[in-house]
Amino acid sequence: MIAAQLLAYYFTELKDDQLKKIDKYLYSMRFSDETLRDVMNRFRREMENGLGRDTSTTATVKMLPTFVRSIPDGSENGDFLALDLGGTNFRVLLVKIRSGKRRSVEMHNKIYAIPIEVMQGTGEELFDHIVHCISDFLDYMGMKSARLPLGFTFSFPCHQTSLDAGILVTWTKGFKATDCEGEDVVELLRDAIKRKEEFELDVVAIVNDTVGTMMTCAYEEPTCEVGLIAGTGSNACYMEEMKNIETVDGNEGRMCVNMEWGAFGDNGCLDDIRTQYDQAVDENSLNEGKQRYEKMCSGMYLGEIVRQILIDLTKRGFLFRGQISETLKTTGIFETKFLSQIESDRLALLQVRAILQQLGLDSTCDDSIIVKEVCGTVSRRAAQICGAGMAAVVDKIRENRGLDHLDITVGVDGTLYKLHPHFSRIFQQSVKELAPKCDVTFLLSEDGSGKGAALITAVGCRQRELEAQQH
Ligand code: BGC
Repeated sequence: MIAAQLLAYYFTELKDDQLKKIDKYLYSMRFSDETLRDVMNRFRREMENGLGRDTSTTATVKMLPTFVRSIPDGSENGDFLALDLGGTNFRVLLVKIRSGKRRSVEMHNKIYAIPIEVMQGTGEELFDHIVHCISDFLDYMGMKSARLPLGFTFSFPCHQTSLDAGILVTWTKGFKATDCEGEDVVELLRDAIKRKEEFELDVVAIVNDTVGTMMTCAYEEPTCEVGLIAGTGSNACYMEEMKNIETVDGNEGRMCVNMEWGAFGDNGCLDDIRTQYDQAVDENSLNEGKQRYEKMCSGMYLGEIVRQILIDLTKRGFLFRGQISETLKTTGIFETKFLSQIESDRLALLQVRAILQQLGLDSTCDDSIIVKEVCGTVSRRAAQICGAGMAAVVDKIRENRGLDHLDITVGVDGTLYKLHPHFSRIFQQSVKELAPKCDVTFLLSEDGSGKGAALITAVGCRQRELEAQQH
């Protein structure tokens, strides 16, 4: 017993000792309540800029109209094809929605790889590849002759002028195919389908993954009027009052706005809280200077921030016996899944060392204590600033509606949110503290992107029929 206590004491001492040494390097990543409140207020200002007629063209948080004007009402019906591009996987789906008393959604899907040379090749190659995958899927389902309506979940910022037109503003995450930015991606898809000359499809809607997520959750829970993705990328959407969206004509009702919040900070407004590590990650990225907030809080970049810190601490002699290995120099070694594993409470230090060993990093016990602390600090900051963004959103909705208190549901998807052991808890806690007048329920979305695209396509088809009748 005494021996065990001594051992525990020794470890606590050892841990405190190690952590004290590196604290000064992690200090600027630990935010006070005041800083978080400040981030939330800045966020709110950027939202207003994105919505304003005169300020929207230069705004960084773009607040893009989606032409989705209501959540589903249960009357959606039919068979739809959906594509999901821009998340962890590329998928083609067949979604069968049935309305009425026994409403249901049945889905069949297939995952396809998009090789990095296609993600970063020419636009024509990318869209030909997508159509090749659709062709394979239609063969697999035996549905080549059906001319189905299609909803395209395309998880990148797009300027929409209608439900079925979206001009790509800029690629984000790992994509960089040429000749797509500034083009209508629905047309690029239609052109590629024509080139293939094998089947016809009716592209009805282009949908951001946040919007698909919100719609999927709203189908089950009508108080869901916000969508959040905390995964490879980071973004949110919500139902905004039409009268506040000065970039679209009309003042009646609401429209879902794809915020594209990942670009928050691209005008320098977060520079005082960004660190040298954030800058290094940005400089090494495919889109330097862009998506600065996303680079602080999404799955694609958290591991890279950790790697930059570890390199610095190694250079200073606190880690890995001062030796920067080839592994540590390798971009992308720290995938989010390793972060999640390292931070798991159930994991003993020995297991942390085993994971580092797997990554090719030969660590001591002291090293593993430090690595775990670095991972925890980076993911905690991510969850907190993501929470500050969400707090700004729900509080704006509350004010829009002139309420002292708002009950609202947020539909959520994304690997970081779903798989990381602490992210969702810290995120939710931050929202609660920063927006105390809002009671927010978080609803996990199952397959939001595919199902949501199909629901939006169903609404789009119905709208089209109504318009045809009126003319
Ligand atoms: C994109 C958004 C998307 C988010 C989550 C970001 O990089 O710009 O459109 O919603 O990732 O996938």
